[in-house]
Amino acid sequence: MIKSIILAAGKGTRMKSSTPKVLHTIFDKTLLEYVVDAVNNTEMVDENFIIVGHQAERVEEYITKVSPNSKCVLQSPQLGTGHAVSMVLPYLEDFDGEVIILCGDTPLITDETLKEFINSHKQQNSDLTVMSAIFDNPTNYGRIIRNQDGSLNSIVEEKDATLEQKSVKEVNAGIYCLNWAKIKSAFGELKTNNAQGEYYLTDIIKWANANSLKVNAYILNNNDEIFGINSKAHLAEATKILNQRIIECHLDNGVQIVSPETTWISPETEIEADTIIYPCCYLNGKNKIGKNCKIGPFAHLRGDVVLEDNVKIGNFVEVKKTTIKSNTNACHLSYLGDSEIGSNVNIGAGTITANYNPLTKTKSKTIIEDEVKIGSNSVLVAPVTIENGANVAALSCITKNIPAWGLALTRAPLKVIEAWVKRFK
Ligand code: UD1
Ligand code: CA
Repeated sequence: MIKSIILAAGKGTRMKSSTPKVLHTIFDKTLLEYVVDAVNNTEMVDENFIIVGHQAERVEEYITKVSPNSKCVLQSPQLGTGHAVSMVLPYLEDFDGEVIILCGDTPLITDETLKEFINSHKQQNSDLTVMSAIFDNPTNYGRIIRNQDGSLNSIVEEKDATLEQKSVKEVNAGIYCLNWAKIKSAFGELKTNNAQGEYYLTDIIKWANANSLKVNAYILNNNDEIFGINSKAHLAEATKILNQRIIECHLDNGVQIVSPETTWISPETEIEADTIIYPCCYLNGKNKIGKNCKIGPFAHLRGDVVLEDNVKIGNFVEVKKTTIKSNTNACHLSYLGDSEIGSNVNIGAGTITANYNPLTKTKSKTIIEDEVKIGSNSVLVAPVTIENGANVAALSCITKNIPAWGLALTRAPLKVIEAWVKRFK
């Protein structure tokens, strides 16, 4: 199995944030986790080394929580990308396989591309493969310098490049695959005699050529995949690109999305065919939506939502950690959280599951069984169960369990004073 090294020690100054760059999120999932997931999903890598520096403890604490096969390695001070990789040397002294290197701030990289990249490295019997990309505007990237015969010569950073080199449009995507045993000694020989006074990882190309090793470039098809995040504007742009990718996939699978421009769907939301998503919906976190459902307009799923078939979630309905069985409607202005809702249920407009006790800071469950009808503007104070077929009259506040087929109502008597208004005329 392969090892990966993910560079994530940089400060990310342009994020202007107290949060480390790689812990910023897209659909509540961190940039670093997108990269780790893409690597793990290749099923070719068994261990990730994450190079941390800036706010190292925070990144490490996070990674230990979410990724059991990742290990953080501290780089302090940060003397460049080559120096960053060399931090892993003590851990891989005897390792005799391939290593891929990538950055923690490129969340749009896919496992398919990484697989293809590693396979191309293997098929060509390469000792070192660099991922490159062709950019109309290559500014700020390292340029791929090729020999007359097209073979790879070196990578030159923008700040070190001559005018002629700057005109090259093939750039270094910052992803590498290398035969560790053959390349590892390069890291002890890198120099800092460059414009930035850093140990450049990119210098391993020249080193490999000088040592008669086999060096190749793999040209990336879809440049979006190496979109790097350096600012909040980049974060917004990456979210948009990822969302478009997800929406195209759902459209291909037969989901109707009325307004792709105003619909946001997280990568971990599954939707079956013939469900319709109306405009302005935000589907965040992990959700599973069945067939023929109608969602929105203006609906908000916050994660851990399971909707069976033919469920309607209408406008201004927020749903979180809730399972809803088939043929149930919640068409208007409701909050359904920490709930289990049966089938053929009607949730009237303005129904609220009061799931949170702010004094004990605990959340409780609401269970609504099959065939129940909840009248408009009711509050169901959890923990509470509304049994099979029971009805809750409009405007009720339900604080205890309601037995099957019963009617529950809490309501002040209606008073009508005849001609009362006329006194003021
Ligand atoms: C690097 C490449 C450049 C390539 C570009 C692609 C080098 C010298 N240059 O440039 O050829 O086109 O990526 O995006 O490698 N990092 C550390 N420790 C350090 C320095 C950096 O962990 O000491 C991390 C950063 O957090 C970041 C990544 O390495 O995730 C890349 O570093 P950055 O300084 O952004 O390199 P670039 O100048 O973009
Ligand atoms: Ca960069």
